[in-house]
Amino acid sequence: MPLLSVKDLAVRFETHDGIVRAVDGVSFEMEEGETLGLVGESGSGKSVTNLALLGLIPSPPGVMSGVVNFDGQEITKLPEPDLRKIRGNRIAMIFQDPMTSLNPLLTIGRQLTEVLELHKGMGYSQALRQSAAALGEVGLAEPEKRLAQYPHELSGGMRQRVMIAMGLLCEPRLLLADEPTTALDVTIQAQILELMAAVQKQHGTAIILVTHDLGVVAGSADRVAVMYAGRIVEEGPTQDIFNSPVHPYTKGLLSSVPRLDSDTSCELSSIPGSPPDLAEMPPGCAFAPRCKKVQKECLLTQPDLVSSGSPQRRHACPIASLPASREANS
Ligand SMILES: Nc1ncnc2c1ncn2[C@@H]1O[C@H](COP(=O)(O)OP(=O)(O)O)[C@@H](O)[C@H]1O
Ligand SMILES: [Mg+2]
Repeated sequence: MPLLSVKDLAVRFETHDGIVRAVDGVSFEMEEGETLGLVGESGSGKSVTNLALLGLIPSPPGVMSGVVNFDGQEITKLPEPDLRKIRGNRIAMIFQDPMTSLNPLLTIGRQLTEVLELHKGMGYSQALRQSAAALGEVGLAEPEKRLAQYPHELSGGMRQRVMIAMGLLCEPRLLLADEPTTALDVTIQAQILELMAAVQKQHGTAIILVTHDLGVVAGSADRVAVMYAGRIVEEGPTQDIFNSPVHPYTKGLLSSVPRLDSDTSCELSSIPGSPPDLAEMPPGCAFAPRCKKVQKECLLTQPDLVSSGSPQRRHACPIASLPASREANS
């Protein structure tokens, strides 16, 4: 049984401008200890997918549907108090900007010990010792001193380490890391990714790594899922996706990455046009208006995500699997 199985996850926001379909039928599975890279342009539904997994969609305006099974339990059915026991405990989340997720009014020590008191029922002094150890584990010097400090007294890299320490405090089975290194400079970024990989190896944590940076995915993810307009359009082992992308959108993203072993990171910005308005989705493939290979049928029906080649690979482009001659004739 996979650690996480997501079936037909959908989130819509009922706004003044119409119904925004932020996530629209997302399905995937994850095994223990695995890293799944979730990539796609800004607004493609990556963060909303992660929030939905934790039952954190604000409602109203959000409405969520679908089934999420985690560790043998259907968590989409759980009442809020039970979900709260899972969040920060068996499923942890690291956000892009630690400044918005750390409480500026509380010391680092207070924020860490609170997690252990709440989820592990520890007393304060034991929680404090464990928190210091956790800060040491993420490479922060003088952990006792850090515990007494407030978030604004630390550098960005240090705050991100604190977030990771906090995320890993309860040894979660699954870590949702949403752009965990985006705000950091390249050197610190590499250190943080290395740190996450080390902790993952030690604890067998599965990680969903959300990023718009293909360099990060190439170095850290076992598998990649590419999102476009709220749907997964291609998925497969990282090497396969980089070596032989199928979906025109994935190809477009990758054309901005010169080499897999290149050390320059690359933003997803090379595809002309912009993503569709999620409140006014066209009937066919959401990528069709920007697609070089577009054909008549692309404008009519929304393509399903289907297996291609190996069972591990899926894509949602019927045109891409046609023989080249048909493509060339169009
Ligand atoms: N609370 C909300 N109300 C209305 N729309 C929202 C809300 N949260 C997210 N969205 C919309 O959902 C879409 C997906 O957002 P998001 O998952 O944050 O994208 P990503 O993380 O891929 O950049 C965006 O169009 C965003 O504007
Ligand atoms: Mg996001």
